Amino acid sequence: MIIDPSQNDPRNTYQLLVGSVVPRPIAWVSTIASDGTLNVAPFSFFMGVTANPPTLAISTGLKRGVKKDTLLNVEQSGELVVNIVVEELGEQMNTTSGDFPPNVDEFQVAGLTPVPSKRVRPPRVAESPINIECVLKQVVYVGNEGSQSGLIIAEAVLWHIRDDLLTPQNTIDVAKLHAIGRLSGNWYTRTQDLYEITRPT
Ligand SMILES: Cc1cc2nc3c(=O)[nH]c(=O)nc-3n(C[C@H](O)[C@H](O)[C@H](O)COP(=O)(O)O)c2cc1C
Repeated sequence: MIIDPSQNDPRNTYQLLVGSVVPRPIAWVSTIASDGTLNVAPFSFFMGVTANPPTLAISTGLKRGVKKDTLLNVEQSGELVVNIVVEELGEQMNTTSGDFPPNVDEFQVAGLTPVPSKRVRPPRVAESPINIECVLKQVVYVGNEGSQSGLIIAEAVLWHIRDDLLTPQNTIDVAKLHAIGRLSGNWYTRTQDLYEITRPT
């Protein structure tokens, strides 16, 4: 089968994209609106970009033709926290993806605990074992008129890591972390079936 996206309905192409780029890590992004309302939402179009300075990218699409609250808040405040989603937080993460108006605090809706961050105003999610405080570097708009995504490029300025997850070698114990990844539709993957491939010298 060969599919040319230029001949395809964009909704079908979206299905090709989310079914091909798997598994995707999930950035559970906390932000704060100009009126102080807290916001949390998951984004799996998410990646690390570079380590020096540590930089992350998150792509936010449109909701009914308008920017999502996360992008609006990030553009207005210049700050965000990326919280890592682990197995026991899957349901709460999913709850925060609901279509809530801007004045609704998803921390409250999902029963999450906001804890003050140290370098940025948006709070972090206490229940998440890794929180990355970030400041906005740039928003790059990608896509055709009417369906533009805002790619948030942000610098990580402070990491919070649950003590038991950091190894003596300063690595994160991913076997202990139990992060989940997004597949397509409502499917997710666990990160328990680990195996090693040694890099060539
Ligand atoms: C696991 C998961 C991953 C998601 N990834 C994205 C994404 O990468 N980009 C996006 O625009 N929406 C994504 N969504 C949908 C948003 O979370 C959803 O539109 C949410 O309501 C946005 O909230 P906000 O308006 O408060 O920013 C995802 C939803 C789920 C459940």
